[in-house]
Amino acid sequence: MTKILLTGSSGYLGSHICRFVENEKVFALYKNNRPASEKVEPVQIDLLNSEDLNFLFREIKPDYIIHLAGIIPSQISNFDEKFIFQMNVELTKQISSLSHTFNSFLIFTSSDLVYDEGDDINEEHPLKPVNFYAHTKLEAEKAINKYGKFFMILRTALMYGFSISSHKSFFDYAFIQLMNGKEVKAFYDQFRNPLFVEEAAKFILMLTQIKLRNQDVMNFCGFEKLSRYEMVLRTAEVFNFHLELVQKESCDNFKEYKMAKNLSLNFNKMKKLNFIPAPYINNLKYLKENFEIYKPFLSPDLNKM
Ligand SMILES: NC(=O)c1ccc[n+]([C@@H]2O[C@H](COP(=O)([O-])OP(=O)(O)OC[C@H]3O[C@@H](n4cnc5c(N)ncnc54)[C@H](OP(=O)(O)O)[C@@H]3O)[C@@H](O)[C@H]2O)c1
Repeated sequence: MTKILLTGSSGYLGSHICRFVENEKVFALYKNNRPASEKVEPVQIDLLNSEDLNFLFREIKPDYIIHLAGIIPSQISNFDEKFIFQMNVELTKQISSLSHTFNSFLIFTSSDLVYDEGDDINEEHPLKPVNFYAHTKLEAEKAINKYGKFFMILRTALMYGFSISSHKSFFDYAFIQLMNGKEVKAFYDQFRNPLFVEEAAKFILMLTQIKLRNQDVMNFCGFEKLSRYEMVLRTAEVFNFHLELVQKESCDNFKEYKMAKNLSLNFNKMKKLNFIPAPYINNLKYLKENFEIYKPFLSPDLNKM
């Protein structure tokens, strides 16, 4: 049976991966929030404790390490830069070295934010991170290239879909606002190729079935270029919320960190692997049809988003 170490298993993406596990033996690493899925074996660890991490690799000798744990943009203001660097870069460096030593294939979620702006951005496109988070993701990629052996770096776009963990997303935030009849301001002038979090989880598990033994980097995204404003507006349409609650906001007004405005990704590599995401509207309809699954997770606690 394929053995997988999954860091960040209690996060937004990780909890969906745990949900879709089938035949793999998944060791689900978490720090504070124990994963609820019965399909995985939860392992509590502070990943910054390098001795514990070494021990885990020695004990398990994983075939795959899916490394998701890190500090994401919505959390960045809660930590200082030194800690964020430690979590996003130093930890990735250690995991790369361990994956090398134990011949484990490393799957890492980087970000589309490492790129310079543009349309049809392929994996050879110039890199130009414009904020500290993006800079740490690029440094993490460099560490993987230097210390890793077999790996796939996934330059992941903004993800959408309901969270089934205590880590919430922009999508949850916007949905709860609309559900409560409150206004949502969303950027109309920033474009990404958003990826459905559940498809991302399934594609990552499919990667572990392909038995890759190489070093690669791949854009990991949906096939449509959308602004957050369009995303929220379509959500309101599908779920029959009042459309006037969705307000346009310019990302120029966002002062917390600098943002790239146009990151429209080329998805040829995904197509070659037969990773074909469904259109945004179809995934919204799917979420509506299956709403009972997500209802218990729709917490009104906006602080965690
Ligand atoms: N979300 C997006 O739209 C997006 C887009 C592009 C790329 N990405 C990348 O994809 C990855 C996953 O994102 P996400 O949104 O799923 O993240 P998330 O929801 O914020 O989850 C973070 C995870 O990291 C774990 N963690 C944090 N510090 C830890 C520590 N010291 N020891 C052990 N575990 C620790 C948390 O565990 P506990 O909850 O147990 O504390 C949690 O499981 C990240 O690398 C992110 O940069 C995300």
